Amino acid sequence: MRAILCREYGAIDKLAVADVAEPPLRAGQVLIDVHAAGINFGEMLMVLGTYQEKPPVPFTPGFEAAGVVRATGDGVTNVKPGDRVMAALPWGGYAEVAVAAANAVFPIPSSMDFVTAAAFPIAYGTAYGAFAWRAHLGPGETVLVLGAAGGVGLAAVEVAAAMGARVIGAAGDAEKCAVAQAHGAAHTIDYRREDLRERVRAFTDGRGADVVFDPVGGDAFAQALRAVAWSGRILVIGFASGSVPQIPANHVLVKNVDIVGFQWGSYRTRRPDLLTQGFARLAGWHAEGRLRPAISHRLKLAAVPEAYRLLRERRATGKIVLETRA
Ligand SMILES: NC(=O)c1ccc[n+]([C@@H]2O[C@H](COP(=O)([O-])OP(=O)(O)OC[C@H]3O[C@@H](n4cnc5c(N)ncnc54)[C@H](OP(=O)(O)O)[C@@H]3O)[C@@H](O)[C@H]2O)c1
Repeated sequence: MRAILCREYGAIDKLAVADVAEPPLRAGQVLIDVHAAGINFGEMLMVLGTYQEKPPVPFTPGFEAAGVVRATGDGVTNVKPGDRVMAALPWGGYAEVAVAAANAVFPIPSSMDFVTAAAFPIAYGTAYGAFAWRAHLGPGETVLVLGAAGGVGLAAVEVAAAMGARVIGAAGDAEKCAVAQAHGAAHTIDYRREDLRERVRAFTDGRGADVVFDPVGGDAFAQALRAVAWSGRILVIGFASGSVPQIPANHVLVKNVDIVGFQWGSYRTRRPDLLTQGFARLAGWHAEGRLRPAISHRLKLAAVPEAYRLLRERRATGKIVLETRA
């Protein structure tokens, strides 16, 4: 099969398509003929060697794949050959064929094509899980989403709106703010030009945001801590800025703030039942037209270095997807 191979850590420009053996199918796994693979910021960190997991080289990156089940291993009951599925993987998605653990494979709703499905599991799964299971978001609450036009950020805008929250989207330029607005943000803030705390207070009668969703970290986190309401919650999702915030505990104390960590991938082994429930809810919202995943770039398999450049230069909105068979 054709697959992208990472032969050495740090060498993004050397990522290239190679002819490699198909991955073996084991008990509890699903073999998928991949039609499209989502691009995620964390995959770039994995190739750079700075992600929490470091597979032995050479390896094929890629956390998300969508395609058709070719075969299932012993004990798999949730999908069968011929099913259209989307899957989350530890790596291995940038390929014509991938294997995934069955508990991270979900049926593609009939309302969704392969490219959209490849953009869906991690961004929407993360947004839903963080709001539903960790922040216990309620209807009518105000949510501030940082990086609101990014992959996971734009999904968070749509999911929070679908849960009945009022969304404030903060993003790095006017065009990105317009994207966040088009996907359900009631208000937007260009946080490279405007003061986040002042704008959030203006939108909330001085109260601040009940919940903050932060995939950016760094200075944006520091600003968000000043913009969160008394007794609010801040969801720590990621550090796309490259800077892991140090949290001033005195501010957390005086404002009664909950700092809430969320890692979607850990639910694959710890609470697969919740993932299944979450995807059923998300699939329903997609079928109702309440979720409209945005894909700013559809690229060929060989274009992974270009995809990573777009992420680094903050030029993607929503998701980038590789069409693996194009
Ligand atoms: N916790 C979890 O389970 C989970 C799941 C998925 C992703 N994540 C993490 O969430 C973060 C975002 O992932 P993603 O796939 O959504 O990435 P993405 O599509 O590239 O979005 C990241 C956003 O961060 C903002 N940003 C600020 N400073 C940046 C910089 N120096 N370089 C690049 N972007 C910068 C950009 O928005 P502006 O230009 O508008 O600021 C960009 O849209 C990553 O750290 C990822 O590892 C965590």
